[in-house]
Amino acid sequence: MNILVSTAGRHGATESLAQEMTRVFQHGGAEVDMRSPDSVIDVSRYDALVIGSAVYSDRWLPAVNDLVARVSTWAHPPVWLFSCGPLHSSDRPVNDTSDAAHAVSALNATSHRTFPGKLDAERLSVGERQIFAASGAIAGDFRDWVLVCNWAREILARLTAERPGW
Ligand SMILES: Cc1cc2nc3c(=O)[nH]c(=O)nc-3n(C[C@H](O)[C@H](O)[C@H](O)COP(=O)(O)O)c2cc1C
Repeated sequence: MNILVSTAGRHGATESLAQEMTRVFQHGGAEVDMRSPDSVIDVSRYDALVIGSAVYSDRWLPAVNDLVARVSTWAHPPVWLFSCGPLHSSDRPVNDTSDAAHAVSALNATSHRTFPGKLDAERLSVGERQIFAASGAIAGDFRDWVLVCNWAREILARLTAERPGW
């Protein structure tokens, strides 16, 4: 079982989620390639693709949108998508970005999940700091490892069910 995990972010939170998913997949016996979106030129050897993006100002990063556009023109295995963004831990529903909705449709994705992210105000650029200050969002680490691991386990379970004997 070969899984490609391809994600992009700016400050490391999205990559940390991808690393945790990779750990779960490998623990379940899968071979995993973690690649930056720009470096993905062929997906024919994979049994599943996991594509994720940080969310900035309600958009996915351009490199991820470009990957979605490329993969949508290729024959590809089942795709799982995730966003890394929200910084609050309230029960308020989080709307998917239009980029995520487009990707679900373009890739006929099995699912899209939005995971809470992390923000360290000290690490932001001047421009990011201004947008962040105006947003009213709260800085902090809201990553939920249980949610992330459970999602990765769901993916493995689905892939395993479709390939008896693996
Ligand atoms: C300038 C700026 C804009 C942001 N815009 C959004 C947004 O529109 N929606 C959202 O859910 N999170 C937003 N966030 C939060 C980030 O998505 C969150 O910090 C995420 O974990 C960043 O991932 P990364 O470390 O991989 O870049 C924003 C953060 C910054 C600094």
